[in-house]
Amino acid sequence: MDVYEAVASRRAVRRFSAEPVPREALERVLRAARRSPSGGNLQPWHLYVLTGAPLADLRKRTAARVAAGDPGDPREYPMYPPELRSPYRERRFAAARQRYAAMGIPWEDERARHEAVAANWDCFGAPVAAFCYLDRAMGPGQWADTGMYLQTVMLLLRAEGLHSCAQMAWSVYRSTVAEIVSPPSDLILFCGLSIGYEDAAAPQTRTDRAPLGETVTFLDG
Ligand SMILES: Cc1cc2nc3c(=O)[nH]c(=O)nc-3n(C[C@H](O)[C@H](O)[C@H](O)COP(=O)(O)O)c2cc1C
Repeated sequence: MDVYEAVASRRAVRRFSAEPVPREALERVLRAARRSPSGGNLQPWHLYVLTGAPLADLRKRTAARVAAGDPGDPREYPMYPPELRSPYRERRFAAARQRYAAMGIPWEDERARHEAVAANWDCFGAPVAAFCYLDRAMGPGQWADTGMYLQTVMLLLRAEGLHSCAQMAWSVYRSTVAEIVSPPSDLILFCGLSIGYEDAAAPQTRTDRAPLGETVTFLDG
């Protein structure tokens, strides 16, 4: 698989099969992803990879919170700016509408949408869940580095026939993640990453992208 294919075939997969992921494949990906760039080569990311019993335990504890209607932990960082201006707001809602349409969920069906969101905390059925932390002292540059690292991981997963879904949603139940992974207190959870093989019966969605001219400006001679 070349880089273009990896980029084109990566998408947020939200329904995984239970097929186990070979440990060697995960290690190959994570070993290669260490080549991800970072300002000053700080490599500010800290990744915890859960499978088997620890992941089952996380699922059980989180499901109990979700079932109890627990609104989650105080957020440690805003997932989005409080005022999402145009065109970002429209893009966000267009993606959500597209996703629910593909799942056959009418926009008006709030309960079904709620359940679809709750699937985040079941890792969408994935057999592997990774949690990406970084040092609290890090600034925007290192948060960007961490995003690059995660994209590197996601692209390499494609080369192994695997799919993934990055999930900021895990910051909602971050204390439960912390109960399982016991991170040092100077780390902050950025997001989760569910990993596995896509469920063949999952609805295939492809989110739109803005035309090139909306996000790229060439200044030619
Ligand atoms: C940092 C980050 C966090 C994300 N958090 C979530 C999440 O919590 N739940 C979810 O279902 N998707 C999440 N996504 C997936 C995005 O919604 C998705 O990447 C976007 O809509 C574009 O679609 P595509 O990845 O299928 O191309 C996240 C993506 C990124 C990069």
